[in-house]
Amino acid sequence: CGIVGYLGDRDGLEIVLAGLRRLEYRGYDSAGIALAGDGRLEWRKKQGKIANLAAEIEQNPVPRTGTAIGHTRWATHGAPTDANSHPHVAEERVAIVHNGIIENHAPLRTELEAAGAIFTSETDSEVAAHLIANEVKAGADLVEAMRRAVARLDGAFTLVAVDAQDPDRIVAARRNSPLVVGVGEGEYFLASDVAAFIEHTRDAIELGQDQIVELTRDGVNVTDFDGGPAETTEFRVDWDLEAAQKQGFDWFMRKEIFEQPKAVADTLLGRLNERGELVLDELRMSPELLRRVNKIVIVACGTAFYAGLVAKYAIEHWTRIPCEVELASEFRYRDPIIDPMTLVVTISQSGETADTLMAIRHAREQQAKVIAICNTNGATIPRESDAVIYTHAGPEIGVASTKGFTTQLVACYLLGLYLAQVRGMKYGDEIAALLAELERMPAALQQLLDERQGVLELAEQLKDATSVLFLGRHVGYPVALEGALKLKELAYIHAEGFAAGELKHGPIALVSQDLPIFVVVPPRGRDQLRDKVISNIAEVRARGAKTIVLGDADDDQARAHAEVFIPLPKVSTLVQPLLAILPLQLFACELATLKGHDVDQPRNLAKSVTVE
Ligand code: G6P
Repeated sequence: CGIVGYLGDRDGLEIVLAGLRRLEYRGYDSAGIALAGDGRLEWRKKQGKIANLAAEIEQNPVPRTGTAIGHTRWATHGAPTDANSHPHVAEERVAIVHNGIIENHAPLRTELEAAGAIFTSETDSEVAAHLIANEVKAGADLVEAMRRAVARLDGAFTLVAVDAQDPDRIVAARRNSPLVVGVGEGEYFLASDVAAFIEHTRDAIELGQDQIVELTRDGVNVTDFDGGPAETTEFRVDWDLEAAQKQGFDWFMRKEIFEQPKAVADTLLGRLNERGELVLDELRMSPELLRRVNKIVIVACGTAFYAGLVAKYAIEHWTRIPCEVELASEFRYRDPIIDPMTLVVTISQSGETADTLMAIRHAREQQAKVIAICNTNGATIPRESDAVIYTHAGPEIGVASTKGFTTQLVACYLLGLYLAQVRGMKYGDEIAALLAELERMPAALQQLLDERQGVLELAEQLKDATSVLFLGRHVGYPVALEGALKLKELAYIHAEGFAAGELKHGPIALVSQDLPIFVVVPPRGRDQLRDKVISNIAEVRARGAKTIVLGDADDDQARAHAEVFIPLPKVSTLVQPLLAILPLQLFACELATLKGHDVDQPRNLAKSVTVE
């Protein structure tokens, strides 16, 4: 979910609505807003996207005040109806918006209802509105009321509240879900993400775990849940509004696909010193410690998990340290074998994914060291990790990850090479050669973008497909998985990725006349591997499939097996995923566009899932 708050002299409605639009990628099942002023509370909420809310306000206007809170929802408890939308209001005076899940909502609701509270929704969130309202009615100020209310809540939350009887104050509490404060000139903002207020100010305060923030006309006051002083981090956002706009592209996603040459280059910037060594200063983890590591476990979700699958091949090959990759949502619950010698690497574009965060906490409880690969400065995941390697992709707004993925790959390669260097498995010239190859990737990605016409035409040809398969071996296998995921997410077409060698053990039964099958062929040089993939293509063609083959531009044999051939610039096997994924991203984006789907906000998804 996305949360926005504004306190100042300007029109709160306009500012909060604009902020919500920038956070819509976090959830778009419903949206709502509450305004406090003159002892009155006004609120509007509506199922569906923010446009529906804006239309509702047009028809049913609200007074202009400088105290406003808003919410855009990704539904957890309760269907996305008008009633279940936020804000939730109690006693016609307290309005709250909530992100997260209140786990003990059922007993609280029973207790509150028994005491006379009237609930109007099925959400877990509404209990918070009643708890706070009861406290203010009993005479507590809003900060104290919030403090007493959160003391009763289990689970994850960011809660923001206003009280009509005290309209020059907004109070918020943060546990587990993100919240940042924007500091303007005599005006203040609250949001799940800085994108919501970047057009007004780049000065921000990052709230920590279990903190309460109070915004008044006089400033910002942060305390812990017991009312004691709290430590916060002030920072200046290092990107501007332009980075969060479409700049002439039809979709953020397409823009982000096109930004990959720069994003990859930025993530590689300044990594090699004059002695040809890789420098990862920001890691701040001692070489001794990294030498002791005897196992690596990578945990992540979604696209980031697929980046982790690629990383396993590279890290094991370069370092000979056993490396497992696990879905974050599975990791904690199977009692994984980890200890102080285990290095846990988490990958997360947003840095807020709850499944991944919980995996980190579990790993640290077992004394494992945790390195986060993350694209969002100061997010919860890097903050709770021992060390962090930032990808420098800039804000990713399209819900389906693109430049997030390729820069995660780069960060994984850097980490693998660094571990190899520290452990004496690779030396200056080898590292320099591998980095030089990575440094050629921005140009190679640009070449793929320049030669995109074939992929766009392919999307036109395949737009009525009902099922598409993707095959790959070795690092081509995670590329197949990610290619299939992009198509599922955006085009709502059934798509599956398989290890090409596994096909004959079952999935080949799916193959029939005209089924489109994408196959990633490894570069030359690994001929054994490549030959096997080419045999796998022959197997599916013999059964009538339509093969779309991605391979080295000069690989005539691969080309000969393709109905459609997508040439890739020359690259070594381990690095090939960086290039091979781009045409698959573009294909999914184009096909979804042709089908008339909302590419940036596919149905049912959210970019940053802050619940487990
Ligand atoms: C969500 C998004 C996916 C993303 C996953 C992990 O489900 O829809 O696109 O890959 O979360 O996100 P993260 O921010 O942790 O990389």
